[in-house]
Amino acid sequence: MCGIVGYAGSRSAQDVVVGGLRRLEYRGYDSAGVALVTPGGLVSRKRAGKLTNLDKLLAEAPLPTAHTGIGHTRWATHGAPNDLNAHPHLDSSGRFAVVHNGIIENFAELRAELEAKGREFASETDTETVAHLLAEEIGPAGDDLAEAVRAVARRLEGAFTLVIADGEQPGLVVGARRNSPLVAGRGDGENFLASDVAAFIDYTREAVELGQDQVVAITADAISVTDFSGESVEPSTYHVDWDASAAEKGGFDWFMLKEIDEQPQAVADTLLGRYAADGSLQLDEMRLSDDELRDIDKVIIIACGTAFYAGLVAKYAIEHWTRVPCEVELASEFRYRDPIVDRSTLVVAISQSGETMDTLMAIRHARTQRANVLAICNTNGSTIPRESDAVIYTHAGPEIAVASTKGFLSQVVACYLLGLYLAQVRGAKFGDEITAIMHELESLPAAIRRVLDDGEQVRELARELVDKRSVLFLGRHAGYPVALEGALKLKELAYIHAEGFAAGELKHGPIALIEDDLPVFVIVPPRGRDQLNEKVISNVQEIRARGARTIVLAEDGDEHVVPYADHLIRLPRVPTLMQPLVATVPLQLFACELADRLGHDVDQPRNLAKSVTVE
Ligand code: F6R
Repeated sequence: MCGIVGYAGSRSAQDVVVGGLRRLEYRGYDSAGVALVTPGGLVSRKRAGKLTNLDKLLAEAPLPTAHTGIGHTRWATHGAPNDLNAHPHLDSSGRFAVVHNGIIENFAELRAELEAKGREFASETDTETVAHLLAEEIGPAGDDLAEAVRAVARRLEGAFTLVIADGEQPGLVVGARRNSPLVAGRGDGENFLASDVAAFIDYTREAVELGQDQVVAITADAISVTDFSGESVEPSTYHVDWDASAAEKGGFDWFMLKEIDEQPQAVADTLLGRYAADGSLQLDEMRLSDDELRDIDKVIIIACGTAFYAGLVAKYAIEHWTRVPCEVELASEFRYRDPIVDRSTLVVAISQSGETMDTLMAIRHARTQRANVLAICNTNGSTIPRESDAVIYTHAGPEIAVASTKGFLSQVVACYLLGLYLAQVRGAKFGDEITAIMHELESLPAAIRRVLDDGEQVRELARELVDKRSVLFLGRHAGYPVALEGALKLKELAYIHAEGFAAGELKHGPIALIEDDLPVFVIVPPRGRDQLNEKVISNVQEIRARGARTIVLAEDGDEHVVPYADHLIRLPRVPTLMQPLVATVPLQLFACELADRLGHDVDQPRNLAKSVTVE
């Protein structure tokens, strides 16, 4: 939430900063702004709305060339999303420019204190407090910006990434972080700060991890890090293993379409290298010992949104393979209900971004209860894996579209790997069984590709249903979370009413919603010994008899459902537990096409932001 960029080097700071903001716009698009440090002092432009509004402003009222700058793209928390509340915020003298991601919880009292001293505020934001505090902190005699930032940071409560430019110190940008993301990029004669490596990937792939409660100062030649008390810190660095092309649309109309199309690769990459020649599973980032894993008597998966639905899918597999009870809980609910967690609980936090505040707070709570925490994450160096005892990285590559797609599929796969690993160390499943399941997983990229190749049918359906104001989704067993995910995608992209139900629950209430021509997607489980297929087909008959327009997703060769399907979307034949990985794809394509037809911004749906770093 909120994208932040800082630059010190020899290029045009405006170009680097605005280019970086463009890559970070998925983090918030309520307003955008830049501040540059010129030899004559600080100059700044900001504008409500998407980054294109700032582009226009910069074209109408250009800024002088500068080589130091900061920028921000906002997801509003305090104060309406207007020009005044857009970042950067300056102190009254115009010397300091501050951009901020997070919420400063004690800002009201700090603001009152500053106003009592005669400081005048121009905005309603919590961020502006920091600019004024810095002005108080830095005196004519002491110009150490990093020291002033440390002093201010020590007074702040809540979550913040701050990046600051000083009009009197060209060539220097200082950042501070607590509970919000910030990473430095080490270039050649230039250095960067950003919420996410995507902002500087055009210039360098060398990233410097910044820890909790640290302050970083960058100049063109150096990156220096301290903690909030001024103790020097040796940060760890890592190489970003994807390049700029991964963060571009590559010929697709939307990032989301590109990311949907990348799913076969994302699944294959997440599986890559996990399976050793002797038949055992390898999870290299597993920092929990096999003994610790053998002692586990309960798994609790915590996550939000789409990641939560990935957890719901995983529950079916983990319990089935390990016979260990597995609960799945919304991260935002977890710590507030006094959960029963102890050292024999494995808490699994699923997060694409690794920065979701609800999930972060939940794992912190779990750790205070001495639970072992394992993160399933797509973002190297992000906060959630760093604060976990173990991590399984998904290798989906950067996900830029706000709505998660390849993130979801790769999370399910990573959870399955965890389930198999637990089964292996606990002796619940051995060689041949694991080999067979791994082969099923390894066949998925080809199956997903086939669903993508058949996508035109779903797109056509979306065009046909473009005027519908409500769509329902039904699923059973592992298809139930798929129904929830299909509904979420439609809500967030097309802004229409959509709901997912467990098919068996239909008769307990939701069937009252069925009316003439209401589109209902039904994910029909594969035929098997469990009778699920037959039961869901009965549900299809029940709703069709009441006028619903049935859109049935069923595996190749399932002919029983044909008479009851107004539209039939064929899925490759895969086992029940693998079906979510193919059945989700048409639902993503449907939501994407429908939103596009309605004229919505598919990559940046209204009111949303990727990486929700507030609770
Ligand atoms: C929906 C979506 C969100 C995220 C949720 C968790 O399409 O993307 O529901 O899944 O905000 O985000 P992460 O996985 O980054 O913790």
